[in-house]
Amino acid sequence: MNGQNSIVEKFRAKFGANPHVYRAPGRVNLIGEHTDYNDGFVLPAAIGFYCWVAVGPRQDRKLVISSEEFPEQIEVELSAESLRPSRTWSDYAVGVAAQLQKEGFGLSGANLLIHGEVPIGAGLSSSASIEVATAIALAEESGLSIDRTRLARICQRAENEFAGMRCGIMDQFISLHGRANHALMLDCRSLQFEFVPIPESVRLVICNTGVKHKLADGEYNRRREECEEAVRSLAKVLPNIRALRDVNKEQLEQHRGVLSEIAYQRALHIVKENERVLNGKEALRNGDLRQFGEYMAESHVSLRDLFEVSCAELDLMVELANAEPGVYGARMTGGGFGGATINLVDARCAAGFAENVAKAYEENTGIACATYICMPAEGASRVESAEQAR
Ligand code: GLA
Repeated sequence: MNGQNSIVEKFRAKFGANPHVYRAPGRVNLIGEHTDYNDGFVLPAAIGFYCWVAVGPRQDRKLVISSEEFPEQIEVELSAESLRPSRTWSDYAVGVAAQLQKEGFGLSGANLLIHGEVPIGAGLSSSASIEVATAIALAEESGLSIDRTRLARICQRAENEFAGMRCGIMDQFISLHGRANHALMLDCRSLQFEFVPIPESVRLVICNTGVKHKLADGEYNRRREECEEAVRSLAKVLPNIRALRDVNKEQLEQHRGVLSEIAYQRALHIVKENERVLNGKEALRNGDLRQFGEYMAESHVSLRDLFEVSCAELDLMVELANAEPGVYGARMTGGGFGGATINLVDARCAAGFAENVAKAYEENTGIACATYICMPAEGASRVESAEQAR
């Protein structure tokens, strides 16, 4: 049964009414890692794994939220005081409701059934997909028309404030704005974006390491602080800068002395990664996949050695990928400390690539490796018919 039919039936069984169904995709980032919260550039694509939300109205001012993945049902009043984090799976959905109301969007009571199919802990933005699917479901069912970029901001703030994860805007933005067969180049300061076609001759192959190291969220927030520290130090000699986005390589080298070694390394990654996104976008536009793949390789090395967010499993997965025929580029994707790699692979080689890498990874680590062969998918939408859900 496809995602829509199954969730509709379960919603009927649970709430005794016909729901509307919305879905929002996860994402993979081709290049531009940890640059979003530095006002920089990213190049993600939505992928065909979704969070599905079935929703129906209630007469009272409550949200009743069920999930196909978790047993307990959550009930909250739509008043500001009762919309608090509970440190459970429902925080992403409740956080979005709280943020919508905080920003002046009055919500109606609703029953929600959530089904997430984006692999959790794989660095493919399962949390953003829940936030975005909930946000469009609640907004539309409450008769609110909210610009998608604004919705992305609302979902990001929900995650910052409710889940305590100081993420940037990339994941929520691509989940809302993704376009089939295109990556999206986003300027995370102006929030202007452009679509970059992905040639039919390649596939995005995602290889999941199956590990998520515990330190991930804490280290993520720490990286963000280290970047902020670098900006504070550099601003003493470069008073016009607001973020690492405003610093170029020459300035960084010239003023290296004002930075701690760690801050310098983090800043160097960001400065060069931003360059790689801009150059990489041009390479993709020109069909120069080999060049794009080199930027991916440089990005991985930089994330490993300068930004220090990779791990042994990710490094191994990249090494195994690079030994395969038909691969243009391989790197870790997302926040790091486990999760998945993204590989740009010749379409004709993709199936063999996925099989060989998974086998070699399992032989080396004893951990099963899930692989996904993808092309970019459409962003979040209401699902009008069963056809669209397939
Ligand atoms: C996570 C965050 C994003 C981004 C990436 C790293 O996915 O949610 O905002 O910072 O890590 O590029």
